[in-house]
Amino acid sequence: MYKLAVIPGDGTGPEVVREGLKVLAEAAKKYKFEYQTKVFDFGGEKYLLTNKTIEDKDIEELKKYSAIYLGAIGHPGVKPGILETGILLKIRFSLDQYINLRPVRLYNEKFCPLKDKLPEDVDFVVVRENSEGLYKGMGEFQKKDTLDEVAIQTSYNTRKGVERCIRYAFEYTRKRNRKKKLTLCGKTNVLTFAWDLWERTFNQVAKEYPDITTDYAHVDATTMWFVKNPEWFDVIVTDNMFGDIITDLGAMVQGGMGIAAGGNINPAGVSMFEPIGGSAPKYTGKDVINPLAAICALSMMLETLGEAEAARGVEDAVIKIVRSKLKTLGAGKMGFSTSEVGDLVAAMI
Ligand code: IPM
Ligand code: MN
Repeated sequence: MYKLAVIPGDGTGPEVVREGLKVLAEAAKKYKFEYQTKVFDFGGEKYLLTNKTIEDKDIEELKKYSAIYLGAIGHPGVKPGILETGILLKIRFSLDQYINLRPVRLYNEKFCPLKDKLPEDVDFVVVRENSEGLYKGMGEFQKKDTLDEVAIQTSYNTRKGVERCIRYAFEYTRKRNRKKKLTLCGKTNVLTFAWDLWERTFNQVAKEYPDITTDYAHVDATTMWFVKNPEWFDVIVTDNMFGDIITDLGAMVQGGMGIAAGGNINPAGVSMFEPIGGSAPKYTGKDVINPLAAICALSMMLETLGEAEAARGVEDAVIKIVRSKLKTLGAGKMGFSTSEVGDLVAAMI
């Protein structure tokens, strides 16, 4: 019996989570597993009413669940940064979800903005370090509000933090068993402390994985290859900040935010799955947002829970709908409403 913590969150979060749960119910029937859900109201509305984001006692409560299913965090009425750090990053850090796993897979070439690229050309996974780097929030102001002001933002990289991420990436590449190629995406030519540590660690760990081909690309070149030769990639491992940036580009290459999902993973603890597109305030409540990213996040959650067959079943259903039914993957232009797309996937299962 899986215990799932559901955080619908802000904006279109509740709409897409609703469709994900619809699909989950079908998948549970078909693949014969049991689950229960508990809904948590963390998000902008709660913050505006109570001035609270997530408290330590909430984190303790979340630790009791098999996994967390998140819609979106971000509210137009709340200053940027408060909910992101107070809820999303707080969960990632306190539950030590040190991997952010973001598959980039094109399901239908019609939706790829790149000329002449096919589904087999766009099929890679970014393993983003999710607990350190520039996201650590380390730094300071000096001489604030003077003309001599200095703002320092530190990228914090520990050997242990870097190594566990790189090891995960090697294991993942092996298990994925496609091209068996792992690319380190960094900036060794300029950020000579952080990326020296990353590169040394990468090269050392690589010795334990003779079956995996390794490669290195600077982050700027990586964005170029994403557009020019996405077929070169299999698995990419990178730090928190670069991973954040290149996965938005990855989302576009795979057809847009409507389809891009991610998992915040603690391999030995509670992981959290989310569509990566955000709360999309302008589409909120209109039943037009694409729920497929949330449904793909559900598939990733099932995979992590050990329901590999169900995970594949959900993803295959999404692929069929994307190939045969949807006009576009964009909000309001799919040819179906949010709930109709959820119905189509559920029926396919
Ligand atoms: C993401 C988002 C978050 C991040 C923000 C909302 C804090 O952009 O999940 O990629 O930067 O990690
Ligand atoms: Mn991002």
